[in-house]
Amino acid sequence: MFRETDEELAPPPSPLSRGRGGASWEAYLVPQDWTHFTAEEHGVWDTLFARQVPYLGTRIVSPFLDGIGKLGLDEAGIPNLDQLNARLEPLTGWRCVPVPGLVPDKAFFAMLAERRFPIGNFIRSADSLDYLEEPDCFHDIFGHVPLLAHEPVARLMQAMGRLGVEAVAVGLGETISRLYWHTVEFGLAREGGEVKILGAGLASSFGEAHFAIEADLPRPRFTLKDAAAAGYRSDAFQPLYFVSDSLEGVAAELEGLDLAGLRRLAA
Ligand SMILES: [Fe+2]
Repeated sequence: MFRETDEELAPPPSPLSRGRGGASWEAYLVPQDWTHFTAEEHGVWDTLFARQVPYLGTRIVSPFLDGIGKLGLDEAGIPNLDQLNARLEPLTGWRCVPVPGLVPDKAFFAMLAERRFPIGNFIRSADSLDYLEEPDCFHDIFGHVPLLAHEPVARLMQAMGRLGVEAVAVGLGETISRLYWHTVEFGLAREGGEVKILGAGLASSFGEAHFAIEADLPRPRFTLKDAAAAGYRSDAFQPLYFVSDSLEGVAAELEGLDLAGLRRLAA
């Protein structure tokens, strides 16, 4: 995710956000205007893709790789979101929506609740392939969208959105964010007896994908209780990575969580 609080980021200027007593999530959308991406920027995507896929090949949960193929993400260049949505929406009802940058928690979760996934409408520069101040379209598309084509994750993400909206409203945003962070962004999961990459933050990061799999660090078994109690870093590699028993298992567990359950986890 990589998000900011409402206090830290004002909504971008938009006619929709004025005089309505607070912006709805639609106020954060911008046109993708795919033709604005330069040849160099498409080249950055291709470089990142070519670097990442060989490493992930045997180290990421298999529905991720299935999603790459189903969605045509192996085609050259930054994906055109209209074309990507034409493939994704018939599969699970999810659509990618362009945003200029970070989206506040409330709007972010509201988008997920509607099966809309925000895509940063820019890409990192060629001279800083490994440095990101905020999520770009490589993180958002390559990291997140393949699994949105997988129904258990499609349901989980919508459920997280619905619960996230409720959680933010009652002051439990940090707790839902921890669960999201330790699964959807930086989680690992067992598959075929091996520990595989699950999270988008790992899938889209060359350095942290290696680190999470290879480094000598704690990889505790994921439980809702332990993940809800564990902080996270948004400015550095994580100090630990939770390992879910399976992708389908953790998806079902998170999908089944309600506000009362979240309150118990936060207590
Ligand atoms: Fe993300």
